[in-house]
Amino acid sequence: MFRRHKITVIGSGATGATTAHLLALKELGDVVLVDIQEGIPQGKALDMWESGPIEQFSMKVLGSNDYEATRDSDIIVVTAGLPRKEGMSRNDLLKVNSEVVFDVVQKASRLSPNAVIVVLTNPADVMAYVAQKASGFEHHRVMGQAGVLDSARFRTFLADALNVSPKDISAFVMGGHGDDMVPLVRYSYAGGIPVEKLLPKETIDRIVQRTRTGGGEVLSLMKVSAFYAPASSLAEMVKAVLLDERRILPVISYLNGEYGEHDIYVGVPAIIGGNGVEKVLEVEFTDEEREAFKKSVASVRGPLSLLTWGPKA
Ligand code: LAC
Repeated sequence: MFRRHKITVIGSGATGATTAHLLALKELGDVVLVDIQEGIPQGKALDMWESGPIEQFSMKVLGSNDYEATRDSDIIVVTAGLPRKEGMSRNDLLKVNSEVVFDVVQKASRLSPNAVIVVLTNPADVMAYVAQKASGFEHHRVMGQAGVLDSARFRTFLADALNVSPKDISAFVMGGHGDDMVPLVRYSYAGGIPVEKLLPKETIDRIVQRTRTGGGEVLSLMKVSAFYAPASSLAEMVKAVLLDERRILPVISYLNGEYGEHDIYVGVPAIIGGNGVEKVLEVEFTDEEREAFKKSVASVRGPLSLLTWGPKA
């Protein structure tokens, strides 16, 4: 019997709530918003649900403190944990957020054993690894969000420099979600034309740098972490999975030999469909790109090696 998709969003802060709202607006499924804070997920969800008659969506949005409400979800989006404050790197959140992510994923995954998990909580590459350990799911059913957001920033700045629609910009960013992420200029196109043919090198270099520090730029302006573009990125990934779109998206995926890397979650282009990561796509690198990617992967291995799993492991 056909039933509507069910989506769990863990964390009812700015990113979680905005994601839940977008998912309802896009009619991707009924949404359950969970948080430990009493009243917040319930209140935000009720408020969103009541926008349905105006926005013309049929989906229900429910808030809860109890994971039972998430039972039999098709997809679990993890935004729980502390966001970055000004002056902090994403890795400063490692200890506290790994405990939060381990706990919430363990609870949610037991009730939805067939779900795909998408993790946004920072440091996102390491948190995807934690989420896989906590759930015990096959690696392809656990992924992290970073590349869609970083690439959206890259595409926005390229479109602006070219004075064209961002719709026509195709580009992606690889590596860890930190300031040494790797925007792949050589694989960036505007309407099918390589951007290197359309923009001077200095402009592209400036855009690459702005992309790398894109999260920090928003953070320093409003003193809290970005959430609109992160939420849009999550919604795009959820859609790719629930509609089995087989989109090619840059996501944080488990690597087991791809790009010569083993036992790590890091940003790479992949085909995203109903099973989660359907396939990691391996692109050819120049020597310089390979070095940059390796450096970025090393910046994920560092914090990963600091994780202490304790009795939960
Ligand atoms: C950013 C946060 C979500 O890049 O890491 O804005």
